[in-house]
Amino acid sequence: MRAFFKVILAAAVLLAVPLHAAEDKNGYANTGLTLDGIGKSYMGREIAQVMGYQGAEWLERPERQREEGTDKLLPLLGLKPTDIVADIGAGSGYFSFRMAKLVPQGKVYAQDIQEEMLALVQQKKGKGEGPNVIPTLGGINDPRLPANAIDLILLVDVYHEFSMPREMGFAMAKALKTGGRIALVEYRGEDDSVPIKDVHKMTEEQARKEMAAVGLRWVSTDSKSLPWQHVMIFEKC
Ligand SMILES: C[S@@+](CC[C@H](N)C(=O)[O-])C[C@H]1O[C@@H](n2cnc3c(N)ncnc32)[C@H](O)[C@@H]1O
Repeated sequence: MRAFFKVILAAAVLLAVPLHAAEDKNGYANTGLTLDGIGKSYMGREIAQVMGYQGAEWLERPERQREEGTDKLLPLLGLKPTDIVADIGAGSGYFSFRMAKLVPQGKVYAQDIQEEMLALVQQKKGKGEGPNVIPTLGGINDPRLPANAIDLILLVDVYHEFSMPREMGFAMAKALKTGGRIALVEYRGEDDSVPIKDVHKMTEEQARKEMAAVGLRWVSTDSKSLPWQHVMIFEKC
């Protein structure tokens, strides 16, 4: 009878704890499936599921500005009127259209992997918004942007969803001009008071480790200007 209970206990432990396989040479490992993850980790970080296009309304919610200080983000980026910008994982284009006004002689690639999100971007363009916004369909391992062409890549609440972050990291670096920057905006993983699930957050330490792995140089971290997010800047040297 005792042996029987031991077997039950061992099985319960195995089911409760995600299986952590060894990382492959690229830093990926299979993990047990969790509610919000994809069953895979990168450099020790569980990768989150992609937010479906059905959630686009949440991105456009009126209270977003107050909760996330969205009006404070773009002034931190130091954009010039001629800049070529890529809003990777643009979703409904919340930031793409706002940035487009700041780069009137430049352009904004509103890039996403979901055609339904890009249809929302196209709808806004149909109403005459953002003549310099270019909807762009990407792949999960390649943003499909021109090489050495981008001054700034904006990633708001998206990088932690990349299913192939290492490949995306190298491809983003390729798309940047020398001296071009990535603004990585992620919910602060160090801050328990940020009301977002852990798998959708990142610590600064983790972000710096992952960007360094694809050859991008850390420039600065601002963890104070926005209520919930870090704004971390990385550069292609
Ligand atoms: C939570 S939404 C954020 C949208 C937008 N950045 C915003 O803040 O309003 C994340 C978006 O990233 C996109 N995404 C996920 N993986 C991607 C990838 N590998 N390349 C491009 N976009 C991706 C999703 O399709 C989704 O639209």
